[in-house]
Amino acid sequence: MSSPALECIDVSKTYVMGRDIEVKALKNVSLTIRRGDFVSIVGPSGSGKSTLLHIAGTLDRPTSGRVLVDGVDVTKLSESQLSIFRKNKIGFVFQFFNLLRNLSAVENVMLPMLLSKRYSFKEARLKALYLLKLVGFPEDRLRNPPSRLSGGQQQKVAIARALANNPAYILADEPTGNLDVASSTEIIATFRLLNSFGNTIIIVTHNVELARVTNRILFMKDGQVFEEAPRSFLEGIPMDEESTRLKKQVQLDLLKLERENVERLFKNKVISGETYERALKSIEEKELMVKQ
Ligand SMILES: Nc1ncnc2c1ncn2[C@@H]1O[C@H](COP(=O)(O)OP(=O)(O)OP(=O)(O)O)[C@@H](O)[C@H]1O
Ligand SMILES: [Mg+2]
Repeated sequence: MSSPALECIDVSKTYVMGRDIEVKALKNVSLTIRRGDFVSIVGPSGSGKSTLLHIAGTLDRPTSGRVLVDGVDVTKLSESQLSIFRKNKIGFVFQFFNLLRNLSAVENVMLPMLLSKRYSFKEARLKALYLLKLVGFPEDRLRNPPSRLSGGQQQKVAIARALANNPAYILADEPTGNLDVASSTEIIATFRLLNSFGNTIIIVTHNVELARVTNRILFMKDGQVFEEAPRSFLEGIPMDEESTRLKKQVQLDLLKLERENVERLFKNKVISGETYERALKSIEEKELMVKQ
């Protein structure tokens, strides 16, 4: 049995503000996010959404409770272990994109792969091109730095970058918060497509349109999480069939590249047989989902 993407067990977070003043931002939150989930977190300002997302992203530690990412108890890891773990296991998408401004679109996506040392330069470039294609980034803008991209285009680069190292999940905090309606719609459709290809996605949002295409909505209030009945993520924006068909092929090409990559890593003894088997299994699962 494979472990869930994320498990929060009795997680609390208390901020201490000077003497005697405590803010209980999370109160005994227990939560399981399964692989392939598409979750939105909604709730009023100050209810603890970003705090929960930071903890899920291992950017912050809970005051008490345990957090398991892909079966690994991250509350037991040291800061240096965490920083490596985070880079390889969690994809982040932010409201203000946070791209490196001296790098081109394609270089921004390549960087996490090169830093992980798991991809050769050639593999990283090819995979970055596939990922950018998958998220619908225009081919004639690949060499542009972020300053010469629209907000929607920058967010697509950020999503492609978040996928670079095959994270356990993507965390997005208000990913459409800084976009116009047309770009927001494209970003929402992109997340939905990526989820239909098996990617686990967790989004904090005030955008009702975005929340309603996810297949699970979590409501936060006063540091607690409430569950609403799951709803089909097929309702909402219609998918363009032709573009979905093309993207399916891109996703299959990506998985083929991924398979070659892990085969090379295994052959060169960079990864263990167990890791290799697990990676192959996950690639095969994804292939099945795409072919459905
Ligand atoms: N670093 C911090 N130090 C002290 N208190 C904090 C800190 N970060 C958040 N808080 C408090 O914790 C509570 C939850 O904050 P959080 O940022 O998680 O809310 P949110 O739901 O994301 O709100 P918003 O919708 O406005 O982004 C709030 O009362 C906030 O003031
Ligand atoms: Mg917030």
